[in-house]
Amino acid sequence: MPFHFLAIERRGSVEYVTLNRPDVRNAFNEHVIAELTAWATGAHLDPALRVVVFGGAGKVFSAGADVAWMAKMAGYTHEDNVRDATAGAEMFLAINTIPAIVIARIQGAALGGGAGLAAVCDIVVTESTAVFGFTETKLGILPAMISPYVIQKIGVSAARELFLTGARFDAARAKEIGLVHAVVAADQLDATVMQYVREALSASPTAVARAKALIPRVAGHAPVEVMAITAEAIAAQRVSPEGQDGLQAFLTKGKPGWVKDPQ
Ligand code: COA
Repeated sequence: MPFHFLAIERRGSVEYVTLNRPDVRNAFNEHVIAELTAWATGAHLDPALRVVVFGGAGKVFSAGADVAWMAKMAGYTHEDNVRDATAGAEMFLAINTIPAIVIARIQGAALGGGAGLAAVCDIVVTESTAVFGFTETKLGILPAMISPYVIQKIGVSAARELFLTGARFDAARAKEIGLVHAVVAADQLDATVMQYVREALSASPTAVARAKALIPRVAGHAPVEVMAITAEAIAAQRVSPEGQDGLQAFLTKGKPGWVKDPQ
């Protein structure tokens, strides 16, 4: 499908996906959601894709759901509202489970669904002056579709404070609660993202995909409950071509075949 609200640039096995509605601070409406879902569905089927960098055009990463679009929903039936909200939930799920390493590059602000988008990324890099918030209750609505992913990242205690008050918070707080991983000066944002891209390209793609799939299966379980799953995962990977390539490369002081420099 042609993309009108996403700008996509492919450099080797790295895809740069930029939300591109800067006039409304990259707010999501049904068209953005459809495009992001279609793009994410393609990303699942692309074995050559190893890293995604999500960004936002203009001064702000994303202001979340498009308020004008949501206000319009009063004219829709309950069934239409549920269908539309489910499409949003499917978008977050599709992005959350992309087998490649997904990095968010945040400038300006990540609010509401924009902060939710950060929560479905693996690595979040932000400039130190960016503002975060689950501002929905200030608008009379609530953070719903994003809640499972955000709570996985920040935990119940921070969610109770921040979801209920809708308060905005700074990048340092976002890091403290686990929503972001690196807080840097604005002029270091691209260089820091590039360091993560380089790091990501030195990890085995099949090991990355399997590790990413393993995390939600293990999280929240007692070790004994997941012993069989974890044993199965390493048993399969260490005899796989990339497992053998990586182990032999270490022993012979060589470089595994998958290691690439960013383009
Ligand atoms: N939905 C729809 N339009 C939005 C929007 C949103 N979530 N966020 C911003 N816009 C629009 C504004 O209405 C404004 O439109 P206008 O030019 O027609 O007046 C335009 O984008 C620029 O917004 P502005 O507030 O002037 O930009 P800013 O750079 O000073 O501030 C934000 C950026 C993101 C901090 C600020 O727009 C904001 O707080 N937005 C609300 C975010 C929010 O609470 N999202 C949760 C939604 S559930």
